[in-house]
Parts: sequence; C-alpha cells; structure tokens
Amino acid sequence: MEIELSFASPEKLETEALVVPVCERKKGAKGQYGLGSRAKSLDQALGGFLQKLLDSGEVKGKLLETSLLHTSLFSSGSSSGGLGAKRLLLLGCGQQDKFSAFELRKVAGTAVRFLKAKSISSCAFLLEDFFGNETGDETSASRAIVEGGIAGNFETNKYKSEKDSDEMAAVTLACVSKKNDTALQAATREAKIVAESQNFTRDLVNEPGNRLTPSILAERARRMAAEVGLECEILDKQKITELKMGAFLSVSLGSDEPPCMIVLRYLPAQAPPSPVLGLIGKGITFDSGGISIKPAADMDKMKYDMAGGAAMLGVIRAVALLKPNVRVIAVVPASENLLGGKAQKPGDIQTAMSGKTIEVLNTDAEGRLVLADALTYAHQVLGCTHLIDAATLTGACAVALGSVNSGVFGSDDSLVERLLASSRTAGEKMWRLPLDDEYKEQLRSAFADLPNIGGRYGGAITAAHFLKEFTADLPWTHLDIAGTAWLDDNKPHMSKGPTGVAVRTLTQLVLDFAGQS
Ligand code: BES
Ligand code: ZN
Ligand code: ZN
Repeated sequence: MEIELSFASPEKLETEALVVPVCERKKGAKGQYGLGSRAKSLDQALGGFLQKLLDSGEVKGKLLETSLLHTSLFSSGSSSGGLGAKRLLLLGCGQQDKFSAFELRKVAGTAVRFLKAKSISSCAFLLEDFFGNETGDETSASRAIVEGGIAGNFETNKYKSEKDSDEMAAVTLACVSKKNDTALQAATREAKIVAESQNFTRDLVNEPGNRLTPSILAERARRMAAEVGLECEILDKQKITELKMGAFLSVSLGSDEPPCMIVLRYLPAQAPPSPVLGLIGKGITFDSGGISIKPAADMDKMKYDMAGGAAMLGVIRAVALLKPNVRVIAVVPASENLLGGKAQKPGDIQTAMSGKTIEVLNTDAEGRLVLADALTYAHQVLGCTHLIDAATLTGACAVALGSVNSGVFGSDDSLVERLLASSRTAGEKMWRLPLDDEYKEQLRSAFADLPNIGGRYGGAITAAHFLKEFTADLPWTHLDIAGTAWLDDNKPHMSKGPTGVAVRTLTQLVLDFAGQS
C-alpha cells in the first residue's frame, strides 16, 4: 500500500473516498465533539449537511461506526457537491477524551477494510485537530494511521481461488501543516516499514504446516535476509547435534522433517560492541503435542506455534531497513512436534546444550525445550548480552490474559520496564506476570535437574521459570503470545488469523536501545 501526503484543502482533495473521523457526543452536551474542526470547515461547503446528520442521531460517532456518503448526492448542480472527494466515509472515533493512537490505528484499519470490500482501492484520511489531544502531534497520528491502515489491508486469502476483497492500493494523508513535511515523510516511511514487517510475519504465520516446514521457514528467512541485507546462517541437524542441543533435538525426533536453527545478524560496523540484543523466537511449525497428543478440536490452529519465531524475523527485517545503531541477532529454533516410532516419550531425559538434564514429563511442553538451547546458543556462542524471547508458549497464559494482553516476564526490572514502555508506544497491550522464586519450587524432578512442566497451577509462570534456567542470569525478558498471536474472528480493523503481535513493540525496543525513539 502506497502512502502519500497531501496539504491541499480537504474540500479540494480529489479522491475516491475521504475518511472523515467523527467523535461521539457527550450525553446531554449538544454540539460538543461530533465533527472536528477540519470536518466542520468541510461541512461549510456542504451547507452544514454533516452536522445535521449528526444532530439527527443516526450517525453517532461510536468507535468504528461507518457511514458512507456519495458526494454527488449533495448537490444536483455539481458532480460532487463542490468537493474533490467522490465519497465521504464518516468513521466513528468514540469518545474524544478516550481517543488515543491505539484507537486511531483501529479506525484507520477499519476505513481500509470497509472501503476495499467495496472495491475502492484508494482513499484519503483527514487528520483532525482532536487527534492532537491524545495522540500527540500530527506525526504520531500519521504513524498510527499508516500502521493501522497497512495492518487492515492484510488478508488471509492466499489460498482462496476467489478473493472477496481487493487490496487498498494507496492512502493519502490529508495533513495540515506543510512545515511538518520532512518529519511526516520520515515518520510515515518508518511506520510503513514496521507495518509491512508485521504483515511479513503474519504471512509466515498464516502458512499451514504442510507449506511451512522448518526448512521452508529457513528458506523464507534466507530470502528475506538477502532482500534487506542481513547475514543469514542456518544450522542444520548435523550442526545442532554437534553442538549437543539435546533439548532442541528431542522435539524433532518424531518427525521426518529435519529441525534447523535460523540465525540472522544485524551488526552495523559503527555500532558499539555492546549491547548485542538477542531476539529468540519459538519456531514450531506444527505442534501436535507429540506422544502427549493434543485433542483433535482446534489442533489445526497449532500451525501458528511458530508465531514467536516469525515475529523475530519480522523485527529484524524492520531493523535492517530502519538501520538503528545497535547490534541485533535473531535466533529461531525451528522444528515440528509430531509423533512417530522415534518420537520422545514422557519420562525421557534429555541433556540440554548448557549441560542441564531435563525430564520430559509432557512432550507437549516442547516450546521451552527448543528455546532452552536457543537461549544458551544466543549467549554462549553468539555473544548476546540481552535476551528477549517471544513464544506461543502456554495455554495457561491465554487463560490468564485472554486475547487482549500478551504476558511479559523478566528477571531484569529495567528491561521489563523498557519493553512495557515500547509496547505502549507501539500500541500492543502487554501485562507483566510475576516470577517469584516460590513458583520455581514447582519445577522439581526426582530423576533429572529439572522437569519440563511445573504442575497444574501457574503454568505460564513455571514455563517462564524453566526458560530463566537457560539465561545465565543475563538481562532477559520473555513474551508469552499464545493468546494474542491469533485472532479467532474477523474484526472491523483486522482480519481473522495471525496478528503479527510483538513485531511493533520489539522493533520499538530496538530503536529505544539505539537511542533513536
Ligand atoms: N503451543 C502450545 C501452547 C499454546 C496453547 C499456544 C494454545 C497457543 C494456544 C504449547 O506447546 C503447549 O502445548 N503447552 C502446554 C504446556 C503444558 C503441557 C504444561 C499447554 O499450554 O497446555
Ligand atoms: Zn505443545
Ligand atoms: Zn507449542
């Protein structure tokens, strides 16, 4: 989707559809909110028609409410009621005092999805003065519109012969201040890179298990790396065996598809030698549960068990294009988790690369096994100084936080705070869960150094504790995205399916480390 900037007056702007944000009125406060000041001046050209429409109560301005008007109907004398726009899309923004960049992303996504469903492939978006109240300046509002719009444009119809929606080809931002031109160009360019990287991730997560094996994921990573200028190294099964990654290898034993470790490096020569940010993402291309097999219902969804790995590939793609001055390495342990004559069995004991022995009490708790060795590799071999992992790790996290917040864990308060601050800037909701030492007592094995499960209660926390055992006490933070990486239903602003969660937040975190945000 192309992004253009326009400083023309909204009345004159020629477009297929002009998106006009409209706020909800405060109860009993007639005339308050409703139209923003730019819509008001547009409405003068329409003889107050829009205000009358709001006064009628038919258009309420509720969040994500849509009303499409053909401007040719406004005036019989001219073709478009004197406006350059062929249509107006009144888009509800909800209550003005609750409006923020978070809502603005959804508003933009809704506009894009609504219009393209009607085969309208270009539009313009009116930047309103009330965006300034909560979203900051016009630059941050533009970022939010670009991010939300591009995310809204993504469809999961790759394998459908008949597409029921066209693509939105171009969005023009109808901005106010020409003096902001340079800042706006830079901000929208960055936002486009980040949002396209989020969609890159979603595209990978959307692939079913038969079309995205560990080797195919590696190939896709290699291709992307070549496109954006990243170093790419793929460790094959032999190399993984030589490195004694017993925990990682054990997960792939029931599968005919070999595992691989994808390593992408972004090491700008001028960047200081430290920090080196390690982005480690779970890359299970299909999780059947293994011998501790999952129930049949919804097992198909387990193709998204590589969403953490795909997110890290998306982040490093964005980083390669944005070029911040900080070292970043993405590490994705990729494997299937299947059943077979050679599959690992409950009770098996594996030796991880770190030397710790693990009693595999449940073969479905495989994410932590592959991550354990990837974390060790990231600091022991790659020299990462900070470890940040993302994984669709536990159903327990989805039970605790639903599909709204991703779970955040960490041993280092300042890194966790930085991550949470980045998530607020990026508009992705995240919630820290505790990691008290007491929970660690649940990770006790009679036969090995630790078991891979910690009992019925606090499952997301004991999983995080398990990972912590492999971080060598480096600053580490863990994101459990089991509940947030997949949207079960279509939303006005986003299609059902992969969300690409964590890409925006972690890209923001990397920029923050480079002192660039
Ligand atoms: N991939 C799953 C976690 C998951 C569940 C992700 C639901 C998305 C939606 C993970 O490998 C798993 O199966 N975890 C088990 C752990 C348990 C055996 C301790 C779980 O959460 O049930
Ligand atoms: Zn599992
Ligand atoms: Zn899994």
